[in-house]
Amino acid sequence: MTLTYKDNPFRPDFGGMPPLLAGRHRELIELDTGLGRLQQGITPPTVIISAPRGMGKSVLLNKLERDANEADVKISKTNAGTIKTLRQLTAWLAPDLVKAARSGGFRFGGKFLSAGLDFSKNRGEAAGEPEWAVLLQDALLKRHRTKPLIICVDEAHVLEPDVALALGNLRHRMNDAGHPVWLLLAGTPGLDAVLRGVKATFIERVTRLKPVLLSEEEAAEAVQAPLAARGWQVSDEALADLVADSDGYPYFLQLWGSEVWKASVDLGRTGLDGDTLSKAAVEVKRQRDEFYFHRYTELMDSARYEPFQGVDLAAVTLAVINAVRRDKGATLADVTAAIQTGLPPNREPISIREYFEARGFIWAATPNRYIPGIPSLTGYVEAQFTGR
Ligand SMILES: Nc1ncnc2c1ncn2[C@@H]1O[C@H](COP(=O)(O)OP(=O)(O)O)[C@@H](O)[C@H]1O
Ligand SMILES: [Mg+2]
Repeated sequence: MTLTYKDNPFRPDFGGMPPLLAGRHRELIELDTGLGRLQQGITPPTVIISAPRGMGKSVLLNKLERDANEADVKISKTNAGTIKTLRQLTAWLAPDLVKAARSGGFRFGGKFLSAGLDFSKNRGEAAGEPEWAVLLQDALLKRHRTKPLIICVDEAHVLEPDVALALGNLRHRMNDAGHPVWLLLAGTPGLDAVLRGVKATFIERVTRLKPVLLSEEEAAEAVQAPLAARGWQVSDEALADLVADSDGYPYFLQLWGSEVWKASVDLGRTGLDGDTLSKAAVEVKRQRDEFYFHRYTELMDSARYEPFQGVDLAAVTLAVINAVRRDKGATLADVTAAIQTGLPPNREPISIREYFEARGFIWAATPNRYIPGIPSLTGYVEAQFTGR
C-alpha cells in the first residue's frame, strides 16, 4: 500500500475530530449519560465545558452532535459569535418567528401581534418575560413538539449577558412546559466570569467539564493507536520524545501526528522512528512558533484595553507566570496579589485576571488552583519579556 498525504488521519485544526479521542473518559461518560436521560424525557443538568483553546472542547461538542444524530435526537449547535443579539438568538432557534415579525403585524402561534417583534421591550404575559421569549418558546414547542432538544453554544465566553440569560430562561421555561431541553455551553475559562456576571440561578446547578492536558500515557495513545491501526511500526523512544515535546496539549499532538505522517510519505516508510521524527520536527517547530507568536502578540495587544491602561504589562505577566508555575499552582489570592504588584495604586485586579483567564493563559482546572493554560506557551512568553 502506498502512503499518501490525503490519507493523513491527524487533524491539527480547531474542531477537527482526531483519529483517537484520547483521555476524555469522564467527559464522554457525562455526555453519554446526558443523552440517555434526554431520550427518557429527563432534562440533564446544564453542562459547562471550559478550558483554554486547543484542549478539545469543540471536539467534545462535535462528538455529542454525532451521537445525537445517530440517536435521532434533535441538536442545534452554534457559535456564540453568531448570536450576539436576542434577535439573532431567535433567528437561530426559530427562523420562522423572525421572518414573520419582519412583515410587521402578524399572527404567530395563535397570537396576533400588531407590530413587529420588539426585542428590547418587556411586554410579556408572564411577569418578567419579554414577549419574544414567550413566542420563542411557542415556536420551539410547535416545531419540536415534545421531542427533546439539545442546544449547544461553542465559544460561549463571548456570549452577551442578555443572550446567556435568555438561554438559561428558555431552558427553564421549556422544561416547565414538559419539553426537555439540554443546554451545553463550551468556552475558554473566561466563560465562568460571563456567567457570574449574568447572575443566573441555573449556573449553580451545572455539570462542569474541564478537559485538561493529556497524561503521558494518554498523549502516547493519541498518536500511537492511529498509527498502529494502520500497521505502522512505532519506536518507543521516538514516541516518548514526541510525547515529552507535546506537553500533553491535544492540538500539538495532532500537529506532531500530522507532520510525522507527511515526513513518512516523503521518506517512503511506515514507521515512527528517529528519522521521521526529526524530519517532522522542523515543520512542527515552525508551526508552533507561529502559534506562540500569535498568542504573544495577542497578549501585547491587550495594552490597548482599558483595564491595562497605565499597567506594566511585563511586570504583571511575569508575576502571574511565577505564581501559577509553582508546583501546586496558585490560589485566587496568590494570582490577585501577583497582578497587584504591577498595578498602579487604587486599581482593581479583577478585570486583568479575567483577561488572562478568557485568553486561557491561566486557569483553575481544579478549584482554586490556577495553573498555566499551556506550560510551554508560558515559557515562551516569559522568554520574550525577559529577553532570555
Ligand atoms: N482527546 C483528544 N485526543 C487527541 N486529540 C484531540 C483531543 N481533543 C482535541 N484534540 C485535537 O486538538 C485540537 C483542538 O481541539 P478543539 O476541540 O478544537 O479544541 P478547543 O475547542 O478546546 O479549542 C484539534 O486538532 C483536535 O483534533
Ligand atoms: Mg473550540
